[in-house]
Amino acid sequence: MTQIIDGNAVAAAIKASVADSLGERELSGRRVGLAVVLVGDDPASAAYVRMKARDCREVGIEPHDYLLPADTSQADLNALIDRLNADDTVQGILVQLPLPAGLDTEQVVARIAPAKDVDGFHPENLGRLLRGLDAPRPCTPAGVMCLLDRAGVQLSGAHAVVVGRSLIVGKPMALLLLERNATVTVCHSRTRDLAEVCRQADVLVAAVGRPKMIGAEHVKPGAVVIDVGINRVTGDDGKSVLVGDVDYDAVAPLATAITPVPGGVGPMTRALLMANTRDAALRQWGLR
Ligand code: GUN
Repeated sequence: MTQIIDGNAVAAAIKASVADSLGERELSGRRVGLAVVLVGDDPASAAYVRMKARDCREVGIEPHDYLLPADTSQADLNALIDRLNADDTVQGILVQLPLPAGLDTEQVVARIAPAKDVDGFHPENLGRLLRGLDAPRPCTPAGVMCLLDRAGVQLSGAHAVVVGRSLIVGKPMALLLLERNATVTVCHSRTRDLAEVCRQADVLVAAVGRPKMIGAEHVKPGAVVIDVGINRVTGDDGKSVLVGDVDYDAVAPLATAITPVPGGVGPMTRALLMANTRDAALRQWGLR
């Protein structure tokens, strides 16, 4: 029987533990604040930002949302980040990516104070991750690691294949798996015979952003399959539906364990954001 890994349940448990730790006496009633900056009106990004604010309220973090027009200048965005860096009521800062064309993502990410970088994307934090030092781990790959642990997957010595090499998921995912002694292969658009490489995976992580790209021909029987994709497509009935990067119906019968879309990795990203925000606050207050 294939184990369906329930991201909603694991995310709820993580959020409950964040809420518990934020209620502890040692915080002396101090409130943790998370600033989320959205530039432009991309509907998917706007929906994520709303869900993040809801998660914040659920766990006892104060959400500070900054919704800026798509034509915001680099100077104005930089000035906002400088203000948030200096704001004592804000312990975490997240700028929703991608930014509209014309804004320099590298400049923005590097401008966030590393201590408040709850995405773990700042060059200093990515460098610390590479060195195996304490730092915020990027939320989506950290969420995948939690799911693998909760599902009881043995990583040491396993062959993990990551499909996708983005800075948000693929690259940090490879580092986190390596940290746990997996043998890691990273595939991308230039990989020759992708299906053959994927079929060698004990753990297959798909993070490419292409609907149902991973089919039965990519999966070794008995593999664990993690689907990071969240793609909105029009179904046969003309309605909009969410599908992953994995063709779930074709792959699930082959897998030992698999994450569904929705309800797999998606809720974990937001849960880990709450955990990273708590941890950033504890570090800033000298409690961690
Ligand atoms: N866009 C998609 N995923 C993410 C994420 O984890 N962090 C930020 N800042 N933007 C994103």
